[in-house]
Amino acid sequence: MGDTNATLNAKGDTHDFEIKSGTLGPDVVDIRKLYANTGMFTYDPGFTSTASCDSALTYIDGEEGVLLHRGYPIGQLAEHSSFMEVAHLLLNGDLPSAEELDDFTYTITRHTMLHDQLRQFYQGFRRDAHPMAIMCGAVGALSAFYHDSTDISDPEHRKISSHRLIAKMPTIAAMAYKYAIGQPFMQPDNSLSYTGNFLRMTFGVPAEEYEVNPVVERALDRIFILHADHEQNASTSTVRLAGSSGANPFACIAAGIACLWGPAHGGANEAALNMLHEIGTPDKIPEYIARAKNKDDPFRLMGFGHRVYKNYDPRATVMQKTVREVFESLNVSDPVFEVALQLEEMALNDDYFVEKKLFPNVDFYSGVILSAIGFPTTMFTALFALARTVGWVAQWNEMISDPAQRIGRPRQLYTGPAQRDYVPVDKR
Ligand code: CMC
Repeated sequence: MGDTNATLNAKGDTHDFEIKSGTLGPDVVDIRKLYANTGMFTYDPGFTSTASCDSALTYIDGEEGVLLHRGYPIGQLAEHSSFMEVAHLLLNGDLPSAEELDDFTYTITRHTMLHDQLRQFYQGFRRDAHPMAIMCGAVGALSAFYHDSTDISDPEHRKISSHRLIAKMPTIAAMAYKYAIGQPFMQPDNSLSYTGNFLRMTFGVPAEEYEVNPVVERALDRIFILHADHEQNASTSTVRLAGSSGANPFACIAAGIACLWGPAHGGANEAALNMLHEIGTPDKIPEYIARAKNKDDPFRLMGFGHRVYKNYDPRATVMQKTVREVFESLNVSDPVFEVALQLEEMALNDDYFVEKKLFPNVDFYSGVILSAIGFPTTMFTALFALARTVGWVAQWNEMISDPAQRIGRPRQLYTGPAQRDYVPVDKR
C-alpha cells in the first residue's frame, strides 16, 4: 500500500499525495492533508469520486455488474445461502459453520419480541400512515427501551444492539402493516425461520393457523439477501455519518431508514411498480420511453439506471428468475410482468439507454414479486429497510471499531454573500 504518489500542481506549488490500493477496485488518492498543505478543499457534490472510508464488507464493480459480500458473489449467495447465513457473513466476516449458524439463528430468534410498551407508539399514528413513517419512529424509539445496549464503546453492547435490530425489524415492519389494515398484531413464532416468521406476522391472523408457503418463503428470503448490503450507498453513508458523532445504533438506523425512504433510493421499487401499472399495456411502452428520453419531462423510467452499475445489476437477474418461480407456485399471472419484460427489452435496445448505460436495477422486478406475494406497495420500502438493517449494522460496527474513525464533517464551496453589515428594518 502507498508505494506511489499522485502529484497536484496548484497555484504554483507541487504537492504529493499517497495513492492507496485495496484488494479490488480503483486506487484512491489519500487527500486528507490537502487542506492543511494547500488551503484548498476537493469539490465532489454527490460523492461521485470520493471513497469515504475503508471497508471489508462489500465490493461492487459497476462496469462489470459484480457484487461481492466478503468476497462471495451475490448470485451464489442468492442461490445457495440463507438470509441468516448472509447476516452472519456480513457481521462476522465469514460464512458460519453449521454450529455457528445455529447459535446465530437462535440468538436472533430470541430477540424477536418488542417491548410491550412500544405497541402504544403505533396507536399514535394515523391509520393511513406510511409504514416507513412508522418504521422511522419505532426504530428510533428502541433507544428509549434498550438502555442496556447503547454504550457504543462496549463491543458486547454493540453486538447485542445489532442482534436486537436485526431480530426486531420484521416485528416492527409487520406491526406497521397490521396497524394500517386494522388487524391485531401477531406475536413472533420462534419455531419458524426468520422469513417464515415475518410472513406469518404479516399475513397470519390469531383466529387461524398460518401455513408458510415454502416457495414464497424462499423467494422472500432471497429478496432479503439481495438487499442485505450495498457498499457506501446513501442510506449506509447516512448511518455511518450519524454513527460518527457517537449516536446510539437505534438512532443511526432510524436515520438510515429516513434516507432509504426517498424515491431515488429505496422508494424506487414502489415507484417502479406504480409506473408499470400506469403504463398498463405493452402498446403504451413507446410513449413512456419517449417521455423518459425527453429532457423537458421530469419522468424517468423507475427501476432503471444506477449510480454505480453501468451494466446489468446482478441482483436484477436473480429477481427476474424469482418472479417466474413465485408466479408458478402461486399460480398467478400479472399483466405488469409482461409490461416489465417488454419495457426492459425495448429500453435495452434503445440508443438513449445504451449510450447512458442504463440497465434494470434491483427494484425493477422486486415490486412485481412482492405484489404477487400480497404486500401493498407502501410496504416495499419497509421490506428493503428490514433487509438492509443487516448491512447498516455491519457497516456501523466496522466504523466504530476502526481506530481511524473520526466524526464525519464535509466542507463546502461557499457561494453566498461576502460579509456585509446589518441594516435596521426601517432602513431596508
Ligand atoms: N430514466 C431516464 N433517464 C435516466 C434514468 C432513468 N431511469 N436514470 C438516469 N437517466 C439519465 C439522466 O437523465 C442523465 O442524463 P443526462 O446525462 O443527459 O443529464 C443520465 O442518465 C445520468 O443520470 P444521473 O441522474 O446523473 O445519474 P445518477 O447516478 O445521479 O442517478 C439514479 C442514479 C439511480 C438516481 C437514476 O438512474 C434514477 O433516478 N433512476 C430511477 C430511480 C431508481 O430506479 N432508483 C433505484 C436505484 S437502485 C436501488 C438502490 O440502490 O437504492
